[in-house]
Amino acid sequence: MDSNEVSNQDEIDQSFTVNGNFLTGKPMLEVNHIDAFYGKVQAVWNVSLIIHQKELVALVGSNGAGKTTLLNIIFGLLRPASGTVNFMGRRIDRLPPDRIGRLGISYIPEGGRLFREMTVCENLEMGAYMDEAWKKRKETLAHVYGLFPRLKERKRQLVGTLSGGERQMVAIGRALMSRPKMCIF
Ligand SMILES: Nc1ncnc2c1ncn2[C@@H]1O[C@H](COP(=O)(O)OP(=O)(O)OP(=O)(O)O)[C@@H](O)[C@H]1O
Ligand SMILES: [Mg+2]
Repeated sequence: MDSNEVSNQDEIDQSFTVNGNFLTGKPMLEVNHIDAFYGKVQAVWNVSLIIHQKELVALVGSNGAGKTTLLNIIFGLLRPASGTVNFMGRRIDRLPPDRIGRLGISYIPEGGRLFREMTVCENLEMGAYMDEAWKKRKETLAHVYGLFPRLKERKRQLVGTLSGGERQMVAIGRALMSRPKMCIF
């Protein structure tokens, strides 16, 4: 163990590994006993999950199982009937989506919800509209183009003319443009 990675006994006590990554400290996201309804119809039953830094977590379930509903709750688009959501130690299940975005969660909605009549570059820049991210947008854009060279080649192309996979790259790239601590999709 590298002593630079872990500086005190508390952190050592809370550390463990996932997929070879050394994880320390408190969870980033904690979803506790969430129930959610659309009107009288229940869509989510008593769901709990914990996500640590550097973890990649997949939510698996059949169509209509409630995956998108849970993501909408995490991002503040839907209020749970009961249960709590904490992000970086702070309760967020009563905050509006813009506040949750500012805390560092970026939501890539189902289908991408891109601006089809705008170019790749314009769509990506829209992801950096908040505060600090706007000042650093050129640097972040270079990073996103590094991850997705295809988007750099097509930066002036209208998003409505991209392939499905290319659109998904734009959706992920746009989410990264806000320099989030966590992406959910
Ligand atoms: N706005 C809504 N109003 C009423 N019912 C809804 C609404 N959104 C979702 N539902 C219902 O809630 C249940 C969960 O839907 P949800 O979209 O969370 O499923 P999912 O797991 O994301 O499915 P998929 O894999 O098909 O994307 C479904 O039965 C769906 O019909
Ligand atoms: Mg869904």
